[in-house]
Amino acid sequence: MDNFKAIKITDRVYWVGVIDWTLRDFHGYETPRGSTYNAYLVMGEKPVLIDTVKAPFKDEFIARISSVIDPGKIKYIISNHTEMDHSGLIPDMIDWIKPEKVFASIKGQEALNQHFRLKREITAVKDKETMKLGDLNFTFIEARMLHWPDSMFTYFNDEKVLFSSDGFGMHLATSQRFDDELDPSILEYEAKKYYANIIQPYAPVVLKALEKIGGMNLEFRFIAPDHGPVWRKDIKKILALYQQWAEQKPARKALVVYDTMWQSTAKMANAIADGLIKSGISTRVMKLRESHRSDVIAEAIDAGALVFGSPTINNNLFPTLADTLIYLKGLRPQNKIGAVFGSYGWSGESTKYLKEMLEAMKIPVLGEIQAQYVPTEEILGQCWALGVKIADKLKETVK
Ligand code: FEO
Repeated sequence: MDNFKAIKITDRVYWVGVIDWTLRDFHGYETPRGSTYNAYLVMGEKPVLIDTVKAPFKDEFIARISSVIDPGKIKYIISNHTEMDHSGLIPDMIDWIKPEKVFASIKGQEALNQHFRLKREITAVKDKETMKLGDLNFTFIEARMLHWPDSMFTYFNDEKVLFSSDGFGMHLATSQRFDDELDPSILEYEAKKYYANIIQPYAPVVLKALEKIGGMNLEFRFIAPDHGPVWRKDIKKILALYQQWAEQKPARKALVVYDTMWQSTAKMANAIADGLIKSGISTRVMKLRESHRSDVIAEAIDAGALVFGSPTINNNLFPTLADTLIYLKGLRPQNKIGAVFGSYGWSGESTKYLKEMLEAMKIPVLGEIQAQYVPTEEILGQCWALGVKIADKLKETVK
């Protein structure tokens, strides 16, 4: 059978990953466009495999490698990251090809053993260590906490390829393998969504990593991540976007996130949004039962204002708000302002809980509005005025 062929990236580097067209959920992150698990084969006197794929995709992975060489001829495996979408087939590959060495970061050495209780030794490499493997030259770059302790980038010096693990990746299943073959607006959205949902909590680490690789004076002809397309055209752009996202500078943008039972909280959301829009603020309104938490996070990352609304149900928040706020808190958003609103029948605890959640994230709360049962014109006017107040604060603080 002549299927599942490798794709040539450079003279020596082949993509031997797999396409997961049906993935729709990655740890609670909605992936409507599926994903890829990228692995790479670097051909030389002693061929090197960089990462593997999720275990259920073994046949496709082996077929792609076999379209270039007999997998038994691979001499080294480099494991950039232990999470099982990339290391899932490391034990099988070790058993099968019996490589001379398997390399990982110091934390990767520990993590591979903790995952798989391997019967053979993993060779730990140091940050910025350069190594010649046959006639191929590599430099290992520790990327600790991007996004796991073990994360590492590997640079292939001979062809200036950065194998960047999860960094600069995205969940996007496509038949195309390179950035310049795809719609740039989809790439930017999916890269931003990936950054916002996976990398965001480690923004200070991203800034240090960018500074470190900048200081190494490496030229990148290709950035080859473990998900989504290989960057060969917009390399400067994706590096600049990571810099921008990691700096966490807010934009004059507001996100109004709510859920509703009988449209009262919805009316309040729309009145606040109208006040913001009238004041010239880029505004997005998202109802949670129609918007996945991971899309909310992608919108929230550059929003200077986050406004949350919830009805009170059973003396508490509407469950979708609790879900999204807990998720947001873990992602450690910075430099936001906020406000809260909600409707209730007789007890009205929702705004108190919303406020507590925002304050726990150190987001100052500019206003709190409640409506009993159905908002009156007066309350909707207060909502509109709250939108204007948030807009004024954004204009004052965001240049
Ligand atoms: Fe794509 Fe952190 O694994």
